[in-house]
Amino acid sequence: MPTTAHPAFNKACSYFKIKLRRIPLNPQTREVNLDKMRQAITKNTCMIVASAPNFPHGVIDPIGDISKIAVEYNIPLHVDACLGGFLIPFMDQAGFPLEPFDFRLPGVMSMSCDTHKYGFAPKGTSVILYRNEQLREYQFYALADWPGGLYGSPSIAGSRSGYLIACCWATLMYYGREGYIEATRKIIQTARDIAKGWSEIDGLYLLHQPDVSVVAISSDKFNIYYLFDGLHAKGWHLIGLQNPSGMHIAVTQIHTQPGVVDKLLEDTRQCVREILTSDVKKDTATAVLYGTNQKVPDKSLVCDIVKLYISSWYKTNLDVSKDDEITN
Ligand SMILES: Cc1ncc(COP(=O)(O)O)c(C=O)c1O
Repeated sequence: MPTTAHPAFNKACSYFKIKLRRIPLNPQTREVNLDKMRQAITKNTCMIVASAPNFPHGVIDPIGDISKIAVEYNIPLHVDACLGGFLIPFMDQAGFPLEPFDFRLPGVMSMSCDTHKYGFAPKGTSVILYRNEQLREYQFYALADWPGGLYGSPSIAGSRSGYLIACCWATLMYYGREGYIEATRKIIQTARDIAKGWSEIDGLYLLHQPDVSVVAISSDKFNIYYLFDGLHAKGWHLIGLQNPSGMHIAVTQIHTQPGVVDKLLEDTRQCVREILTSDVKKDTATAVLYGTNQKVPDKSLVCDIVKLYISSWYKTNLDVSKDDEITN
């Protein structure tokens, strides 16, 4: 999979003891290097992954070309459309035509689409689609001799919430195809307006033209994390990126409201002006965080700190008996 594919795949490979090969991007185009992807294939390769689009830069991988490789080597291609799955099917009708990214391509064997993202349904719901029933069956589990009766389960999650499924279905029915096309039209237009505005600000450049709803930028004039923290202080909660340094916005319906893009662009211009004219180049919290991360050669140490952070969350939030100590 390209290095930009979601860590959910790294996590799954770690759980299932699958060796994962991460294919680097072409540093100029920020698209996956297809020659390297081809070279990484071995007789043990059980799946190729492509994103539509990827989370960091919002780029749709060249799925047509990757599908050809998948067919040539007879390896199933999974398209992760978790982020774009409720935008990209509607882009043609919303006036933003796209190349095929789905089962129209012969190598694509499965796809994931998060209903809880641009499907606007509650978290805890998502969709996985297979090209045929035979592939879907690998996901099912059955046990014949349990004293509790015959057991069958369709997914990794055992007991699942009917409440969430009902809410998800109601949301799909509420928006309907027309509702999703309209939301897509507004979201994609807004992403393109932000991309145009940001790219016109001296010192900023787009990491890639936004294919869908994510706009990612960096700077060749200053540490981009200064801008990240400056915008954060003004109430904009964007996402910090690394390797290379950058930040992105994932445009949602809120950003399509009148005046929001203008405010974001005005706040960005103001922050950039301040950064460029300030004599004292004081590091901000995010700049220090990512700077330190890049300097630590042993990434397992960084992972240990992330796990410690999660652990301390559970400790402070769950251990009620320690309430007094925490307050103190
Ligand atoms: C592109 C992409 N793929 C996959 C996922 C799956 O994540 P999760 O493990 O939360 O289901 C996400 C979630 O943010 C995503 O953005």
